[in-house]
Amino acid sequence: MAKLETKKILVTGSVGQIGSELTLALRRKYGNDNVVATGRKTKPSEILLNSGPFEFIDITDRKSVEKVVKEYNIDTIYNMAAILSAVGEEKPLLCWDVNINGLYNILEIAREFEMAKVFVPSSIAAFGPETPQENTPQETILKPKTMYGVTKVAGELLGDYYFKRFGLDVRGVRYPGIISSETLPGGGTTDYAVEIFYEAIKNKKYTCFVKKDTVLPMMYMPDCIKGTIDLMETDIKNLKHHCDFNMASMSFSAEELANEIKKHIPDFVCKYKPDFRQAIADTWPKTINDISARKEWGWKPKYNISTMTKDMLDKLGKRYEQGTL
Ligand code: SER
Repeated sequence: MAKLETKKILVTGSVGQIGSELTLALRRKYGNDNVVATGRKTKPSEILLNSGPFEFIDITDRKSVEKVVKEYNIDTIYNMAAILSAVGEEKPLLCWDVNINGLYNILEIAREFEMAKVFVPSSIAAFGPETPQENTPQETILKPKTMYGVTKVAGELLGDYYFKRFGLDVRGVRYPGIISSETLPGGGTTDYAVEIFYEAIKNKKYTCFVKKDTVLPMMYMPDCIKGTIDLMETDIKNLKHHCDFNMASMSFSAEELANEIKKHIPDFVCKYKPDFRQAIADTWPKTINDISARKEWGWKPKYNISTMTKDMLDKLGKRYEQGTL
């Protein structure tokens, strides 16, 4: 039986792009000592280290996770540790190992310890070239062509299986590209939409690794964090889906983003030099239909391309002035 109350949360991948901000948001909401941040080897930031517990674990090493789960009496896991799409194509076996064997360990431990809830992120990478690229429906063809995408589809199915078969409350969304100002993403295809801001502030120029007319779904971090926690807080009675919610916010081409930045930095110059990541981007949707997330748990993003761009440039601009960018 699932427990009702959230007592102790463990975040894997807490040093990563989403994990780092999610951990701090969870600490603000549930109390610093109730959120255990974990990572594999990257040194955590001072704020992550000083605001609550931090432990090194490796989700592919089940014992290392079990030890922390027991020590802190964990009953909720946000499994944010993953290998992203671009690194996944360079190291497909590692991608499978972390994203699938690691996830399997997390789900088994959650089942064994009768945890209340597990969050398992999926991605727009679950879709593929046969999927309709405009207004991509919730229920559609899932035939990804990247190892990352394969692990995301399998992860959605595995999470749903654990819910049906064992009654474990597993939830997840298909994140679009996430744009953020605190921690850089690592090894993804949508990373250009973050790098472009850093380079615009620092050097007023950027060479983008996808073509200028490449359109992908994106989301600003504050919406990502709010949506993630809102889904986890929703009464399970409201949910018809569990691990595969489409979640949309904004969609734009690389050139539209560059033009939006130019409104603030008129002499910013963006060039385009597509590399192997173009082929990955070409298999992903352009716009997403997220009606199920809106209906079942009230998803509604706040930011659009112009409010996100202004906020990113404000935040990064301040850090640049302080010499910390
Ligand atoms: N941002 C991820 C990537 O580009 C997609 O989920 O790999």
